[in-house]
This record gives sequence, C-alpha cells and structure tokens, in this order.
Amino acid sequence: MPLPQSFLNELHDRSDIVELINSYTPLKKRGRIHWALCPFHNEKTPSFAVYEDTSSFYCFGCGTGGDAITFIKLKENLEYIEAVRFLAQRAGLPMPEDADEGAFARRRRLLDVNREAARFFFRALNSEEGREARAYLRRRGLDNSTIKRFGIGYAPEGWGALREEMHRLGYRDEELLAAGLCSKSQKNDSVFDFFRNRAMFPIIDVRGSVVAFSGRALDDDKRKYLNTPDTPVFKKSRTVYALNIAKGTDTRQILLCEGQMDVIALHRAGFTNAVAACGTALTDEQARMIGQYADEVVLCYDSDEAGRKAARRAIDIFSKTALGVRVLEYTGAKDPDEYIAKYGAESFAQLLEGADNSTEYSLSLISRNCDMESDAGRVEYLKQAVSLLAKCPTPVERDLFAGRVAEQTTVSKGAVLEQIERERKRASFAKRNREKLVFARTGGGRWDISKIDRSKLGEASAGRRLLALLFARPELANRVSGRVHGGDFVSADEGAVFEALCSLAERGELAGLQSLSPLLSDAQISLLSGLIAESSGVNFSASDADFLIDKLVRARDGPSAGQIKEMDALELQGLIEKNRKPKGEE
Ligand code: UTP
Ligand code: MN
Repeated sequence: MPLPQSFLNELHDRSDIVELINSYTPLKKRGRIHWALCPFHNEKTPSFAVYEDTSSFYCFGCGTGGDAITFIKLKENLEYIEAVRFLAQRAGLPMPEDADEGAFARRRRLLDVNREAARFFFRALNSEEGREARAYLRRRGLDNSTIKRFGIGYAPEGWGALREEMHRLGYRDEELLAAGLCSKSQKNDSVFDFFRNRAMFPIIDVRGSVVAFSGRALDDDKRKYLNTPDTPVFKKSRTVYALNIAKGTDTRQILLCEGQMDVIALHRAGFTNAVAACGTALTDEQARMIGQYADEVVLCYDSDEAGRKAARRAIDIFSKTALGVRVLEYTGAKDPDEYIAKYGAESFAQLLEGADNSTEYSLSLISRNCDMESDAGRVEYLKQAVSLLAKCPTPVERDLFAGRVAEQTTVSKGAVLEQIERERKRASFAKRNREKLVFARTGGGRWDISKIDRSKLGEASAGRRLLALLFARPELANRVSGRVHGGDFVSADEGAVFEALCSLAERGELAGLQSLSPLLSDAQISLLSGLIAESSGVNFSASDADFLIDKLVRARDGPSAGQIKEMDALELQGLIEKNRKPKGEE
C-alpha cells in the first residue's frame, strides 16, 4: 500500500533536513547553501550541498543526491519504508499503517486481548491449577512482588482454557489467532491454545502495552521457551524486554542480558536498568532503541561460548551506534541470574564496575584463542589484534592498546603501531570501494556528456532544464502534457523522472522530493537532485517552459542530423521556416 502524500508531506514538514544531515556530518552555511564533506565518498574539500528551500542535498563530487528519506536510506542502509519509519520515529509521527482507522481499531483489539490474556494467566497462576507453576517460580527465587511487577502468570494445561475465557469476554477466534494466542490445527481446522502448562512472561512495549508472551516450560525436557510469533502488534526484532521499566531509571546506562530470567533477577537485585533482546539475537533496530535511552551499554551475556559469541556480534552491532560498550566477564555461574543467586548483588555491582570496554574484551578473547606460548600463536594474535585496533576511532586508544599488545608479544610498540596504521590505510581503501557501491546504486547523478550522442546535446540539455523547471513550477505541467513524452528524453531515467513529475503535478500532489522518492529509483532521485542543485536560485517562467518544449518537440518530429546533411537548399529553407513558426505565434 503506498504511503499517503499527506503523511509524506507532514513527515517532510517535521524533518528538518539541515538538522538531520548535520547530526551525521557537520554543515557550514555559505550564502543560502549548507556545505559539508560528503558522507558518501572520501574528499578533503566540501562538495556536498544541502538546500533548505528544496529540502534536498546533492554532492557535486560523487553525484549522490535526494531528500531526507534518500539520505537515511543510503546512510543507514535501509529500505525505503524502513527509512520512512526511522524518520517518523525521530519526528514523533505515527506511521499511517498505525493511524489508518480500520487497522487502528484492529490493533486496539489485539492489544486488548493480550491484556486480558495476561490477566487470565495471572489469575490462573494464583488459583489451584497454578500450584505447580507457583512452586517453580518460587524455586527460581521469584517472590510475589516480583511476580506482580512483571505480571507473570500461568497458562493452564489442556487445550482451550484461555480460548474459552476470551470467547466469554467477546473475542473471536480470528482475533485470538491474529494475536498469536491460539493456533489452528492443520488436520481439522480446530482452534486451540498456543501456550499450555507454561509460566507466562508478558512482553510489554515501551508504551506499556502487553504485545506478546514468552512461555517457560516447567521442566527442562520440553522446549524451554515458546514465544509469540510476530503479529500486527509485535515485531520481535523491534522489541526489547523490560525497556518500558529500564527507560525510567535515572542512569544513562543499560544492562543487556540474554534472557528474561536474567533481567528479572537483576531488577530484583536493584539493577532496574536491565533489559533483554528476548528470543532473538540482537538486531540493529533493538540497538537503536537502546541508544535512545542510554549512552553506555554493558553486555551481561551468559559466560559460555555461546554468550561470548553473542557478545562479539553485539559489539559489532553497537559499533554502528554512538553507544559506549563494555562487556561483563565472570566465572562460577552460567548467567547473571545464577551469579546473583550465588554471590549476591554487591558482588555483581563490583563486576559491573570492572567490566572491560569492548576493545579490551575483544583483545582478551583473541589472546584466549591463540597459543601465546608459541611464536606462531603470538604472530596470529598480533595479526588479529592489529586488525581489531585499526578500528579504534581515537589515536589515544590505539596507542594505549598497542602498548599492551607489544608487551604480550615482545614486539616493539613502534612496530605494532606501524602495523595498525598500515591496516587503517587498507581499511580506508576498502571503504572507498564501498563508496563506489553507493555510487553504483545512485548512478552518481552527474551528467556524463561523453555518453550522449553529440548531435543530441541540445535536446539533452533542454530535457534536463525542463525537469528542473517542472520541479520548481509544477503548475506549468499542463503546458507540457500532451506535447512532450517520457520517450522524448535522451535517457530512460530522465523519461521516468519526467513521467513521475507530470503525473504528480497534474494531480496537484507534487509537494517536493518527498512526493517523488517512493516512485523513483535511487539513481533517478540523484539525477533530479543534481538538476535541482544546478538550477538553485533560477526563476523559471512560462515562456521558458514553451521554449524548452518546442526544442524537444522539434528534436523529436524534425529530421535527424544525418537527414539534414542529405537535404538540398530548398528542403533546408522549408525546415528553417517550419522551425521559426512556434516563435512567431507568441
Ligand atoms: P537461555 O537458555 O540462556 O535462558 O536463553 P535462561 O534465561 O538461562 O533460561 P532459564 O534460566 O533456564 O529459564 C536465553 C533466552 O533465549 C530465548 C529466551 O528469550 C531466553 O530468555 N530462548 C531460549 C528461546 O526463545 N527459546 C528457547 O527454547 C530457549
Ligand atoms: Mn541463560
């Protein structure tokens, strides 16, 4: 479903492109234009221009251009719709899918049925049938106030207890299925409860709504956790367990655990800034959400190999955010839950204090995997350490850790630093190659004259000016339509831009680049942004439009350069008169 123009316009009004881009690369204003070093290619003098009036950007160096949505798409490497969502979230604007009347009501019903289900599970836990589950939770150290705080419950045995109760409250099977609370048998289409005989942990989003559940088996020989699948109100890649509580603590630090049992144990011990990316490996979206409430994250993963692997992955993901990362290391317990049960909160607080930053942590992991007693092992360690330290953003940090690596390998510190610099050069070369990829994707909207047939240069330039004109003065579109067609342009991309401009302008829906970005490819958007940049400050008139149209029409309907060469004097005379005509009519 295409996004409504009214939504895109509001998003555009609420997203200040100067402020947005400035948060990625510092802008300097000269005249009407804001300049920066281009974030899409490597350069020493700024050729990246941001235009407030057209809410567009264009790099005169690499030819990448577009609006705020294009910028986020390329910079954050997102799909169009994700980039829109990213900006909407930033601007505090609900996405239309959430705002649409019918969908809104359906979402509301799903949230309601989830809340009712949580109440039902809670009642069940505290009734006779919940006896075994109560005993289980007690064994795991959860007291009544914790159970209440996290809304923990119990899904009864049997196949239809929840379904029956929800029917009584007026919810239909369709809704129970859509909420992931029931499943349908493939054999006979009968509908049954999804969670049975499990301790139930409601998953609550940052706004405080129950959106899903995680059900823990009461004995370890069954599948340990069963989670609600994705539903219209629950995307697990975009949900962080307990963030609704953790966001309210007055530290700018988040403790990220592997499981919700760890989170609950930490909260009980007073660490109410603990969260978990429940049921999934950490996603970019979850990392960004955490970044909204914290400046530092401490990874409190399990102490086994799987936990260390997850930590390495999380370090990579967080390196794309501004968050500082430290990693908790401990022995004697498999996870934070067990650690606190065994050694207490005090001891855990000390662990937290001493947690290494992510570079220290990664270095120690590397050394653990290399045989530091042998020359070959130390060489391997040096190689991996150098590639890690080359990624440290500050020279101070590189210097510090180079010293440590030197000690461990008995190589001189100078030599280690030199290796790091060499690696950094290689990496920046690789980065330039990645930039070439953005260039390939956007086509680098620059005009490559060498690709255009010499005899068509005039109409090519007329076509491009007409596109810039249509963008600046959409009300002139009615003069153009019917006379010029997409096929009259020298490239297919220009033709496509033309068609999109005209169809929007004629419907009165051309409000800026944001109206076009859903219709055009990255290359086409860059191309148009380049034309907008080149014509910035130009006042186009109606007669400019007529002039450009004539030029294109004549190029299309008139004889080709080859044909003209073959003409005799009389034919040429006729051609000149015919070409003069449109001007004479004015
Ligand atoms: P763990 O197996 O480390 O869970 O999985 P845990 O917290 O130590 O569990 P307890 O203490 O034995 O109860 C970490 C997380 O991975 C997800 C759950 O979100 C869990 O909290 N998980 C694990 C599943 O989704 N399904 C599974 O079968 C297992
Ligand atoms: Mn665990």
